[in-house]
Amino acid sequence: MRSSVASGLLRRLSSRSPALPLRRTQQRCFSDVTSASQREFELLRQVSRLESRVSELQAQLPPRVQPTKITNWEDLAFEIKPTNGHVRYTWSQKTEAWDAGQFIQDPFVNLHIHAGVLHYGITLFEGCKAFRAKDGKIRVCNLPANAARMNTGANRLVMPAVPESLFVEAVHWAVRANAEYVPPYGSGGSMYIRPFLMGTGPILGLQPAKEFQLMVSVTPVGNYFGKGGLKGIHANVMTEFDRAAPHGTGDVKAGGNYAADLLPLKRAKELGYGTTLYLDPKERKFIEEFSVSNFLGISASGAYVTPHSGSILPSITNKMLMTLAADMGLAVEQRPVEYSELPSFREVGACGTATVVAPVSSITGPDAQGELVKHEFPSFDKLNQLRMRLQEVQYGEHEDRHGWMVEVTC
Ligand code: PLP
Ligand code: COI
Repeated sequence: MRSSVASGLLRRLSSRSPALPLRRTQQRCFSDVTSASQREFELLRQVSRLESRVSELQAQLPPRVQPTKITNWEDLAFEIKPTNGHVRYTWSQKTEAWDAGQFIQDPFVNLHIHAGVLHYGITLFEGCKAFRAKDGKIRVCNLPANAARMNTGANRLVMPAVPESLFVEAVHWAVRANAEYVPPYGSGGSMYIRPFLMGTGPILGLQPAKEFQLMVSVTPVGNYFGKGGLKGIHANVMTEFDRAAPHGTGDVKAGGNYAADLLPLKRAKELGYGTTLYLDPKERKFIEEFSVSNFLGISASGAYVTPHSGSILPSITNKMLMTLAADMGLAVEQRPVEYSELPSFREVGACGTATVVAPVSSITGPDAQGELVKHEFPSFDKLNQLRMRLQEVQYGEHEDRHGWMVEVTC
């Protein structure tokens, strides 16, 4: 528990003792002082006890945001709905270990003004989902892959590793405690799970933080791009901005990567586009990825093609789709994809946990002469089959041949 003003004063008072032997007259004075100090000491002890009790009672206070009652599950958007609470674990340099964690109803965090996350962006997040399956059970999808990616990022940002078992325990706890927020089977919704890791310890000079928190919050969601999301999104190729540098942090889910996409995304939206598409920052010759999702396409020969690059996020959805594509007999190519290949694609999609696989109906960007060209992709046949197959596995309608889905016992 955070030390209170009274407990701090208590510590200072208890350290006030005479260092040298006292003469008799001094002894009398000192005994007056000591009895006054003792009274002060006793009062402070009582205040300290009261403060602890206040903290205990505060923890039992109703949350400042009340959980929502959801009735219209079919109308869920990709937005925050207040739930029962979140899970929080703390790592401190003193113990070099994660604590036992707690479930917190109030969706606010009390941070030191110099917490590493606030000034230096020491933070990573993950995105995963829980589904209410056809058999009524709740299952989470592919958590070990998210745990592994969080740890790649933790290593890159010098944050403590989160053992896979702790990551899984934290997610199961958050889902179980919010089970009524997993959208019903058939509604088309899912529970979006947001595990995140941040440096909460105060630092001034640039250095790793000394305290970290791992939190897991959840919210029921619908389509990332809204009700019209399956009609197709229009993407804008970025010519003035890059998302990530070679050997930078593009391959981890660092919060700063997303802040850097905000201005490009704002500009693209002002021009009427739904998302941004980044090219490789070195030569602007290869396709990298969309704002919050990997690029995938069906080539003229019918192959599943997705870029291979060290500065894009290794998407877990993409990996599952590649596996399903191979299961369905498609050739899978993960390789550098030249921007000049774009007109040859029959279908293009944007994939990720939040987006699943969104159809990309057009991509507008400069051609070799610098003229703005709109490439259109009216078909979404094969990619839609893959999107449906993935969702069938997630909702328990199709055999989970690769063991991605794990039940959350409630
Ligand atoms: N690329 C970026 C930049 C993303 O933010 C995401 C979202 O998580 C993805 C790709 C897709 O990754 P995943 O499928 O693991 O959610
Ligand atoms: C996800 O798809 O899980 C992401 O993290 C993208 C986010 C911007 C919603």
